[in-house]
Amino acid sequence: MADVRPESLKRITTKEMADAFIADQIAAIKEQVGDKKVLLALSGGVDSSVVAALLIKAIGTNLVCVHVNHGLLRKGEPEMVCKVFRDELGANLIYVDAVDRFLDLLAGVTDPEQKRHIIGEEFIKVFAEEAAKLDGIAFLAQGTIYPDILESEQGIKAHHNVGGLPPELDFELVEPVKYLYKDEVRVVGSALGLPDKMVFRQPFPGPGLGVRCPGAITRDRLEAVRESDAILREEFEKAGLAGKVWQYFTVVPDFKSTGIKDGKRAFEWLCIVRAINTVDVVQVTVEPIDYDLMCRITDRITHEVPGINRVLYDYTPKPTATVEYE
Ligand code: XMP
Repeated sequence: MADVRPESLKRITTKEMADAFIADQIAAIKEQVGDKKVLLALSGGVDSSVVAALLIKAIGTNLVCVHVNHGLLRKGEPEMVCKVFRDELGANLIYVDAVDRFLDLLAGVTDPEQKRHIIGEEFIKVFAEEAAKLDGIAFLAQGTIYPDILESEQGIKAHHNVGGLPPELDFELVEPVKYLYKDEVRVVGSALGLPDKMVFRQPFPGPGLGVRCPGAITRDRLEAVRESDAILREEFEKAGLAGKVWQYFTVVPDFKSTGIKDGKRAFEWLCIVRAINTVDVVQVTVEPIDYDLMCRITDRITHEVPGINRVLYDYTPKPTATVEYE
């Protein structure tokens, strides 16, 4: 039977509505799980973060969060997840440093689909291994949201949050935001006291920076992606664009060009800046970036990021391009 949003659930647009939703969900979670333990893969994305904050309010340390660092996260992200959830919210959080494991597996792999496949499979493996070490887990919490359910039912996209769990993770599901749209999840996240950085963050693909390091991922080029992305985010924040532009990031392809640094020939990578706006992600337009801002970003990336001597801005809408490069 189709999983349909109840008609009684009004669109959540205010803090008061979010508070009422939170109170209802806390009661429902307590009723569903009692004093049993619940496991959650906490990526630091909006949906899993809101689910974690809700469950912490409902069951405290009976929620066990697992944060897997696959080495493809943005600069400062694993630290932020640990700070917000472990230090500030008192979460029972297991941090798994799986960086070498993922990067070793990905070494030499150039095919984009194979890269995605390896990252997805390995993620489930690492998570299942952590689950196997724990005693008494009875439930699995997931950050499924309503568009995931609709897209899966319409056959648009088999969402990882909807069905298809490996047998070793076959726990009963706890999905407190599954009837909410993204904007409602953000209102609930703010009402729960999560920082704006987490609640209003731009979309970030599951395979992370891996798809922004086209070709075989190497540690040095991945670091160039991470550092250039951090500079771009900083400059967009300073320019007041962070909450206005839908998505912005850098890409460092496996390609070098000739340049000059300190009066000497520098044969180095180029860095592509992409900043886009969209409503439905099917059609995407390019942010008309300010010239002075782009010069500042170029100057900082070429001087602060080792291995980059050139910066380009991508003016291609979708179609013909997609948002990501792989
Ligand atoms: P494309 O490149 O398909 O991207 O135009 C559309 C939006 O989806 C994000 N994206 C992903 N998100 N896992 C995700 O969770 C993925 O494998 C993935 N690939 C693309 C992309 O960042 C953009 O917002």
